[in-house]
Amino acid sequence: MKRVLLIVSGGIAAYKSLELVRLLRKAGIGVTAVLTEGGAQFVTPLSLQALTENKVFTALFSLTDESEMGHIQLSRSADLVVVAPASADILARMAAGMADDLAATLLLATDKPVLVAPAMNVRMWRHAATVANMATLVARGVGVVGPDEGAMACNEYGFGRLAEPPEILAAIMAVLAPARPLAGRHALVTSGPTHEPIDPVRYIANRSSGRQGHAIAAALAALGARVTLVSGPVAIHDPASVDVVQVETADEMLAACLAALPADIAVCAAAVADWRVAGAATLKLKKTPGGAPPGIALTPNPDILATIAAPGPNRPRLVVGFAAETHEVLRHATEKRARKGCDWIVANDVGAGTGIMGGAENEVHVVTASGVENWPRMAKDAVARRLAARIAEAMA
Ligand code: C5P
Repeated sequence: MKRVLLIVSGGIAAYKSLELVRLLRKAGIGVTAVLTEGGAQFVTPLSLQALTENKVFTALFSLTDESEMGHIQLSRSADLVVVAPASADILARMAAGMADDLAATLLLATDKPVLVAPAMNVRMWRHAATVANMATLVARGVGVVGPDEGAMACNEYGFGRLAEPPEILAAIMAVLAPARPLAGRHALVTSGPTHEPIDPVRYIANRSSGRQGHAIAAALAALGARVTLVSGPVAIHDPASVDVVQVETADEMLAACLAALPADIAVCAAAVADWRVAGAATLKLKKTPGGAPPGIALTPNPDILATIAAPGPNRPRLVVGFAAETHEVLRHATEKRARKGCDWIVANDVGAGTGIMGGAENEVHVVTASGVENWPRMAKDAVARRLAARIAEAMA
């Protein structure tokens, strides 16, 4: 039997952990629960004990009492550690590597995968401290499910609601019994910006962080695909279980993509520079006192997406492009799909104020031959998982 160690931290959403335990037990998964001090304000150890049919561990257990030291083993004997709900406080303590109560100690001591389901007020979720803590945890490989958007207990509206228990169960099952519908498939993903040199020290670039493309590569790999990720210069970690080819310019990106073919799937999420500097200087351009600034002549870059999508023996069965637009998103995306010859366009609005370019969330419209799917605004990781699932469905 697979076993989950469920840590229930504080917050009004803690009551939903009882429903989660019920679903886990129904799915044949053993559950041991740990209640933090905050969690115990909202659910009782007795109700968790009745549902888990196991002893419940609370913050009251002394970590210095030798007879209790064995509880560290709790986090190692489970197949997965789940924190649901995960309050801003426990996420901060996890990010900082603290061990100031039983739950934090178990999270620090575990060598098993960890999944968190954050739940908090929208302002707390958006606070720079929480954003930074989440980035740290994600970079360490912690899985995240939710939060959802909706009305909150505090009469506000926004992101911060605990994901619904069936959604958390699905995320747990994806770790414990991963479906691998893309096993045996090769996926090529482009991500990040390109840097186009002006001279050996200067370049033209854009604000792409690579977050969306990298998340897509990770999500396709999680579904069993062999993934080649061709990435421009980014400041984020390489996803696990993915072959990464690092490039700088559009020309290099095209060459790396062509070298990676054949592929069954191509997802072009890179923000490729449309132009490069014609005849970039091989020596640093120098200022001369009173001299005019140098002119920069541009020349078009190859269109990688259109090249990959062009008919031919090496064309992947499914080619997906992105369209980052600041206005008339759907009209431009539909035109782009036809012009580039790709199968789908994932379109998003990167207009000022959306916080999408370089941000953690995305709101996309998927344009296919059969029409437009409007997806709700969600974390880039969640967009990636949903897109990977949609791709798996199309490839079945
Ligand atoms: O033409 P536009 O840059 O808006 O198209 C965006 C889509 O085309 C993205 O999928 C991007 O990765 C791809 N693209 C490309 N090579 C280029 C320009 C864009 O692959 N030179």
